Amino acid sequence: MKKFREIPEEFRVEPLHQDIYLANGELRKWEGAMTDVYSTISSTENYEPTFLGSVPNMGEEEALELLYSSCEAYNKGKGLWPTMKVKDRIQFMEKFVKQMATKRDEVVKLMMWEIGKSLEDSRKEFDRTIQYIYDTIEEYKNLDRDSSRFEKRDGIYAHIRRGPLGVVFCLGPYNYPLNETFALLIPAVIMGNTVIFKPAKHGVLLFAPLLEAFKNSFPRGVINILYGRGRTVAPPIMRSGRVDVLALIGNSKTAIALQDLHPNKNRLRLVFGLEAKNPGVVLPDANLELAVEECVKGALSFNGQRCTALKIIYVHKKIKDKFIKEFSKKVDELVYGNPWEKDVTLTPLPEKEKPAYIQELIDDAISKGAKIVNQRGGERSENYIFPAVLYPVSTDMRVFSEEQFGPLVPIKSFSHINEILDEIANSKYGQQISLFGEDAYELSPLIDNLVNLVCRVNINSLCQRGPDVFPFTGRKDSAVGTLSVHDALRSFSIRTFVASRDDDYNNKIVENLLRTGVSNFMNTDYIL
Ligand code: G3H
Repeated sequence: MKKFREIPEEFRVEPLHQDIYLANGELRKWEGAMTDVYSTISSTENYEPTFLGSVPNMGEEEALELLYSSCEAYNKGKGLWPTMKVKDRIQFMEKFVKQMATKRDEVVKLMMWEIGKSLEDSRKEFDRTIQYIYDTIEEYKNLDRDSSRFEKRDGIYAHIRRGPLGVVFCLGPYNYPLNETFALLIPAVIMGNTVIFKPAKHGVLLFAPLLEAFKNSFPRGVINILYGRGRTVAPPIMRSGRVDVLALIGNSKTAIALQDLHPNKNRLRLVFGLEAKNPGVVLPDANLELAVEECVKGALSFNGQRCTALKIIYVHKKIKDKFIKEFSKKVDELVYGNPWEKDVTLTPLPEKEKPAYIQELIDDAISKGAKIVNQRGGERSENYIFPAVLYPVSTDMRVFSEEQFGPLVPIKSFSHINEILDEIANSKYGQQISLFGEDAYELSPLIDNLVNLVCRVNINSLCQRGPDVFPFTGRKDSAVGTLSVHDALRSFSIRTFVASRDDDYNNKIVENLLRTGVSNFMNTDYIL
């Protein structure tokens, strides 16, 4: 697809053998088998994957060891961490985020090599995560301020707070290995839970620079990091019945398989961000230039490897020819290259099987009547397949219902909006939609229906998760629970309170509890 270019000195990598792991507050040397980590980016003129290093290949025994260290730190709710004052937990988190910030360049470089994310987007992901942690701290202070007073009803005083749920098992995705994993981990930890977390298959070495910061910042056992194949290490943890919250960003197959292994499902809280197939809908009166620009970004930022990506575009028959022509042109102008190269938007795919999978979807669609309508669509290299724009797409094609999660844009035209509303209502997914149009009388009934089919309707713009203070969730197979700075604190906690009858005897006791300040739960101190 393009000639090999020398890798600039500052972006070259030496293999990193990360043979330590964090368990029970210690950085332990791993003596067992290691798993090699490769990048699909080539460092040589004749293509070959680059060897990046290795990580521990843990087994069932170690998985359980890490689980038990989380359980011990929680210690049935009487551990240091779950009973600590909010103010103190915040201080631990602040210590962590300050140390984490110093590791930006190392993490960003590994992110580019491991998942092929562009330099600019890798930096954005890092900075966004730091901001997310600071925002979470501020939000937790708000929550704590609201909880530091008593309520009274029917002669009963209640001191209501949000308390932790227990042991949280966190699994992050490869497309946002840092941000999405931390969007689970940080709220879980700050609310007083203890955590065992496993990085995704791609984007695993990038946690190595953060291990020291984790170890230095949090008390023993609060965070434990698990390596190894998901299918080996995750089942024993779930089967143990000791996990209270399963927090996963990934696909529903894994989510269902894991929750099924828990022996007491009613005790298991779920927080999931799952697959989606967000549609873009271009109405006849849409501003075409804007719609094209947003649809290109929406469908192909990070090669379409975003759960929020536009994965199907519906265009009204009246404007479809113009839209397809402009859209295809813009897609063909996108620059492919290695993540650190100037102006690149398309970058190597981290999953080596992905180009072949995308090709399968293309072949299936073509065999059922679709065409590749852009010139460069389907061009192949060892680690890439140039985005193909497929038209006309029909409901019997795999690409209509499968989440492609890669560089491929199916387009379907429509004559009446009701055709689409039915398709969206019948879809397995229900995360977001992008609606392009102007007329309030056309838009209003659509908005009123679509908000009940998905969880975010974007007007004249691409779908996205951010800003992270807004609720991020989905219906049907797309999510369980809500993740925003505000909501995630609630997803990882439960309301719990102390009640006392309003009489002289009890009031004296409560006053003493507050005056002595001995209880971490029952205190009315404010954090400013
Ligand atoms: O993969 C799903 C991500 O949450 C998408 O986040 O919309 O900020 O790219 P984003």
